[in-house]
Amino acid sequence: MRMDRLDRLAFGGDYNPEQWPEELWPEDVKLMREAGVTMVSVGIFSWAALEPSEGTFTFGWLDRVLDLLHEGGIRVDLATPTVVPPAWFYRAHPEALPTNREGVRWEFGSRGAICHSSDAYQRAAVRITRALAERYGDHPALALWHVHNEYGVPVLACYCDASAAHFRRWLADRHGTLDALNSAWGTAFWGQRYGDWEEIQPPRLTPTVANPAQRLDWARFASDAALENFRRERDLLHELSPGTPVTTNFMVSPTQCDSIDYWAWGREVDLVTNDHYLVAEEDRNHVNLAMAADMTRSVAGDKPWLLLEHSTSAVNWQPRGIAKRPGEMARNSLAHVARGSEGAMFFQWRASRAGAEKFHSAMVPHAGTDSRVWREVVQLGADIAALAPLRGSRTVADAAVVWDWESWWAQRLEWRPSDDLDTRERAESWYAALYDLHLTTDFVHPEAPGLARHPLVVVPSLYLATAAAGENLRRYAEGGGTLVVSCFSGIVDADDAVHPGPHPGALRDVLGLTVEEFQPLRAGETVRLAGTGRPELTADVWAETVVTSGAEPLWHYTDGPAAGGPAVTRHALGEGAAWYVSARLDREGLGAVLTAATADAGIGLHDDLPTDVEVVRRVGANGDGYLFVLNHTAAEATVDLAARGGAHGTELLTGARVTGRLAVPAGAVRVVHQPE
Ligand code: GLA
Repeated sequence: MRMDRLDRLAFGGDYNPEQWPEELWPEDVKLMREAGVTMVSVGIFSWAALEPSEGTFTFGWLDRVLDLLHEGGIRVDLATPTVVPPAWFYRAHPEALPTNREGVRWEFGSRGAICHSSDAYQRAAVRITRALAERYGDHPALALWHVHNEYGVPVLACYCDASAAHFRRWLADRHGTLDALNSAWGTAFWGQRYGDWEEIQPPRLTPTVANPAQRLDWARFASDAALENFRRERDLLHELSPGTPVTTNFMVSPTQCDSIDYWAWGREVDLVTNDHYLVAEEDRNHVNLAMAADMTRSVAGDKPWLLLEHSTSAVNWQPRGIAKRPGEMARNSLAHVARGSEGAMFFQWRASRAGAEKFHSAMVPHAGTDSRVWREVVQLGADIAALAPLRGSRTVADAAVVWDWESWWAQRLEWRPSDDLDTRERAESWYAALYDLHLTTDFVHPEAPGLARHPLVVVPSLYLATAAAGENLRRYAEGGGTLVVSCFSGIVDADDAVHPGPHPGALRDVLGLTVEEFQPLRAGETVRLAGTGRPELTADVWAETVVTSGAEPLWHYTDGPAAGGPAVTRHALGEGAAWYVSARLDREGLGAVLTAATADAGIGLHDDLPTDVEVVRRVGANGDGYLFVLNHTAAEATVDLAARGGAHGTELLTGARVTGRLAVPAGAVRVVHQPE
């Protein structure tokens, strides 16, 4: 793969010149140079401007844009515009519009209205992709191909008849025979047996709860159907523009996109790229950002990744478009870089005057260049350039969290024991508890090999866990790892069927216990947990009646439906241990359990650091370290460099030599290069 045009940390954004008079374009390039822009994403929504009627192409304007950018030394991430087919296409092919579960068809007039099973759409997407690749496949500005835009949002699954036929083909592939499908879906329940493939439909609107295994397969199918379309475009680009890497911008973070299995998609792109939008109103929104970045790095595996979109200030689609405070944009951007991103890019270059996103911030805001946002953009361009030495270095993680989109899809279906127990909330809370201990976290698939490289692996509610996952986690603990499993994990197999025997079937042996009964709590009810020499803990939403068979109770319930029974346990196993937390603990409770478990795992905690002073380290192939300190607080913080990779170094953003303790002003970021 020719990654040679991705040879700098990337800085730039989505550039939509077709929204502006051509006279402005040279001014854009001049300003891009002033800001240190290295790359822009072009053409994402340009299908109608490039193919105004079927088979007629108007490339002249894009030729001029690409040449102008090239002359300005700016690289191009060129999109296939297949996220918004033109109006003429839908007029000829209304069947390519997606249909929702209720049978209502979404209309043209916004974006992303696509039935991924539509032949007409697939043919049209191939035509425009081929035309673009033939024309620009060896353009000297081209650094990266950008297929489509954010598969999965705003809508992924389509419930039309073409999708139904596609679903049946996908099911035949997965299950082989109808008997196998009937068994996997448990169709003996409620008399749902299928005698012919043609009887099977998408899980459309049903009077009451639809078959959960059918719904789970449907969620898998929807992710795979879009992936087939991505692969088709990618393969064409590889063929016609050999060597140029191909990406599609992900939205890795359960807060942003819930329908794509990024473990599967991460393997399909040449470069993982991600979009992240801050939940502006959230108190500590930098924690969610860190989680998204850590998840993206994990999805990328051992390859680099790039933040392709975030915002300079407000976004327009949240209830209140809260502007970022001075310094916040840089903290956000550099937090992504700390967690492995090879640069920081934005939506978008110049704020649009018209359309749905005119109140979304941009690198060039409506206020123009005499503005705080522009000055901070220019400063950030210089900061990113100053970080050039760390290109290719890798973020070092202290612990791992198990995450699986399939398990999330399964758990959030209807009629689970408690509506209040939410996979996403648990993953975010456990992640935040690790963040509060200043630990950097990788995410791992439950069946992923190589868990042993993490001294601590946390499993927030993993409702669906295959026998292979259970085996993987058992081997991890036996081999010397410290495993911490949270409530309602290991309950069902890949078909959403309860594992045979008492809960938690997939994890009984590793945890050394059984769960005799779930004890969901009433709304607002809390229970208390106590243990000899241990702090008292509080939980809400969920408790369990636990019976140990090898595990040692550390905390027990002092009240509530499981009073007197074990609540938090530890099972010594081989060289390691498996902890179980059977209740939904609050923030303090998670912190207390993790503090004990990290001691078990031999992880030294840095308790000299205040909350919300974020410290992350990248290490290069030559052993050089890059210590990021992001101070999200309103007070100056100091960090002991010796305890974090080396007492001496150079602070890259200021150029200062530093030694001993590093002072980081309120709201500021510092990046210390620590030679090996
Ligand atoms: C997404 C899209 C962009 C833009 C931004 C901001 O990330 O990819 O086109 O809509 O959100 O809202």
